[in-house]
Amino acid sequence: MIQKTPPLGWNSWNTFGCEVSDQLIRETAEALVSSGLKDAGYTYVVIDDCWAQKERDPVTGRLVPDGKKFPEGIRPLADYVHGLGLKLGIYSCAGEFTCAQYPGSYDYEFVDAEAFAEWGVDFLKYDYCFRPRETPGHLLYKRMGAALANCGRDILFSACSWGADDTKNWIKTTGAHMWRSTGDIWDSWESIKKLAMQQTDLQEYNAPGCFNDMDMLVVGMNGSGHVGLTGCTAEEYRLHFSLWALLASPLIIGCDVRSMTEETRAILSNREALAINQDPAARQPFMINSHADRPIWVRQLDGGDYAIGLFNFLDNESRFHFSIADMGLSRVCDRQLEFRDVWSGETRLVKGFYCETLPAHGFRLFRAKLRSL
Ligand code: GAL
Repeated sequence: MIQKTPPLGWNSWNTFGCEVSDQLIRETAEALVSSGLKDAGYTYVVIDDCWAQKERDPVTGRLVPDGKKFPEGIRPLADYVHGLGLKLGIYSCAGEFTCAQYPGSYDYEFVDAEAFAEWGVDFLKYDYCFRPRETPGHLLYKRMGAALANCGRDILFSACSWGADDTKNWIKTTGAHMWRSTGDIWDSWESIKKLAMQQTDLQEYNAPGCFNDMDMLVVGMNGSGHVGLTGCTAEEYRLHFSLWALLASPLIIGCDVRSMTEETRAILSNREALAINQDPAARQPFMINSHADRPIWVRQLDGGDYAIGLFNFLDNESRFHFSIADMGLSRVCDRQLEFRDVWSGETRLVKGFYCETLPAHGFRLFRAKLRSL
């Protein structure tokens, strides 16, 4: 399995924490379909931590789904999710316990991968808590990578070691298809800003096959749910979504899609932002200025277009300016650019320089086309 573009889906953790159940997953899958998010590309429905019993099966050694939360087990749920045209994800941990202290996969990697395959699981989020000191992180992920590669089913391997222990330097040797390049997200502006600013030096590690995962989206949480803090304004959520999309992060929804507002649905299904995220060339984004707190990111897209994002993390207005030469174009003989704002649909022609003052927490995400002068 080769992951050519960032995975899109939903995960239970941000809103529901340990309150996962068969019913929640079914209803969420149904809501992804009825809201149009499935058609927009969101495919994976991921059960995070706390789905298993506290003890493995004493005979088979297998993880056992919690009988209260998942009375029929995982297989019928996977069948149901597949019947809706979606895929099912599950969670485990490279250590002896998961972060919420359920059994982890350490020393049971092959047993667990085999069970996940048999249950029809399509995605494994693999955490990093309670790891034994004698085994370095890269070997823990190699173990599960080998188990998944031999389990007889295509299972997307989502590594979640939060960038610890220099994950970036070894993660592509493990078979992981995405890797958490951040600590945990919280539903606040400060958290979004912090994670975003940590990405500045990590883009050289971001590539098809294994994408930098900036953590699940908090769009639409509005301060409620497991990681809910202060919440954000709609404009801040749009900035968050735009930046995650432009930096080719997996887009994993974290709000309750069964009850999301129309405003949230519209943010999550912005087709032009999603097209940038899913651009088939999947080239690395590059930053053309040197201010992590007001970055200007550019990405060359398939077919010759550019994606350009300006993000103001400051609490006051800020002036953004750049020359098209900073993007790798000559100002003398190259073409002009037609910038299209992916949120307002407005277009403007840019000849040599771009200049704009953005308000506190303001942003722009453009798709730019080259035009003859
Ligand atoms: C954290 C992880 C979160 C969530 C949680 C579950 O380590 O970063 O995304 O999975 O564990 O306990």
